[in-house]
Amino acid sequence: MGHPVLRYAAETVEDPTAPEIRGLVGDMMETLADADGAGLAAPQVHVLLRIVIFQVPEGRETIDGGAVPLTVLVNPIITPVGDEQNEDWEACLSVPGLTGLVPRWTSIRYSGVTLDGETIEQEADGFHARVVQHECDHLDGILYPARMTDMSTLIFREELRHYVKSADEYDPEGDIA
Ligand code: NI
Repeated sequence: MGHPVLRYAAETVEDPTAPEIRGLVGDMMETLADADGAGLAAPQVHVLLRIVIFQVPEGRETIDGGAVPLTVLVNPIITPVGDEQNEDWEACLSVPGLTGLVPRWTSIRYSGVTLDGETIEQEADGFHARVVQHECDHLDGILYPARMTDMSTLIFREELRHYVKSADEYDPEGDIA
């Protein structure tokens, strides 16, 4: 947080099937695995291109209650479905040590292109919708604190235990995005 690359709008990828794009995504996957995270956007590895990767770990709420495998989305577009929002805790590799309550669209539709040049169109809700919105915000230079409406909930992750009733209610592993 604070590095200029995280504040700029990223550029459209002209050829999602280019070998250098595949190489970049490979680097992003390594970074995501190191962080034990749910998602990552190219600007977080200092590349200003419209590429995000994400996954939904087992046990996270989604439209079908299932996990979502590691997904690569080039030039993604998000459209809210309905006007319902919900709040949940988010953390970010680019904002280390902190977490905060962030309102997001509950349901979205998103589209994008794979590394093979195929179009993905998908509906998502719950954590799935949240992680996609968090990652796509990175492509427009927006970090999650800028989406928060109650800055008193921007806290150190190690203090989160004071805010949830039980460990089951919030699992801080795998939420970094
Ligand atoms: Ni992030």
